[in-house]
Amino acid sequence: MIFRQLFDKTSSTYTYLLAERRGGEALLIDPVLENTAQYVRLIEELDVKLVMAVDSHIHADHVTALGSLREQTGCATAMGAMTRTECVSVHFHEGEKLCVDKLHLDVLYTPGHTDDSYSFLLPDRVFTGDTLLIRGTGRTDFQNGDAAAQYDSLFGKLLRLPEDTLVYPAHDYNGMTVSTVGEEKRHNPRLQVSGKQAYIDLMNGLELDDPRLMDIAVPANRACGIPHAA
Ligand SMILES: [Fe+2]
Repeated sequence: MIFRQLFDKTSSTYTYLLAERRGGEALLIDPVLENTAQYVRLIEELDVKLVMAVDSHIHADHVTALGSLREQTGCATAMGAMTRTECVSVHFHEGEKLCVDKLHLDVLYTPGHTDDSYSFLLPDRVFTGDTLLIRGTGRTDFQNGDAAAQYDSLFGKLLRLPEDTLVYPAHDYNGMTVSTVGEEKRHNPRLQVSGKQAYIDLMNGLELDDPRLMDIAVPANRACGIPHAA
């Protein structure tokens, strides 16, 4: 498998490039608009063809590269069915698979950070978007966020995966790049709660500032990062 973890310094976003083999198909998860040229160069250097660009949810902290990648490479653009946007060519549902050659990513619906948050599972790793971060969890106080739904996504789905499953989140602010389900179960402070109500109380007490780019990023991302395409 070809696997690359790319980092956007401005928004601390991780973007993931996946392909089964040289000369084959590739998929990007959570690409950032400003890094479009870097992605296009990398897929050329690795001799893969970008067939799909995916967002795990509508981001509030950066503008997506889905539209720019579609314009430059002709790739499909995909978001979950709960993302009520017309700008993507594929709406996936839980239980479906996103496929690039023989790599098949299982789609998991993991709402809570937003109501359109999805995770993507390979046999040895899971891409958790902002649902499960390393030693953290995505905030639940805007974009139809819901701490109770996030508790169910975490404890009912993601933390039930085998403990050695690698966890690749959409962001990290502390220099961490990868974790495992078992490591997060034991050491993620947000997960050391007695039950759902305790988790809801914890999340509702965070009092976070809005992301700096929120008023720009959310409407732009509803249009795949290309306003005129809305
Ligand atoms: Fe987010």
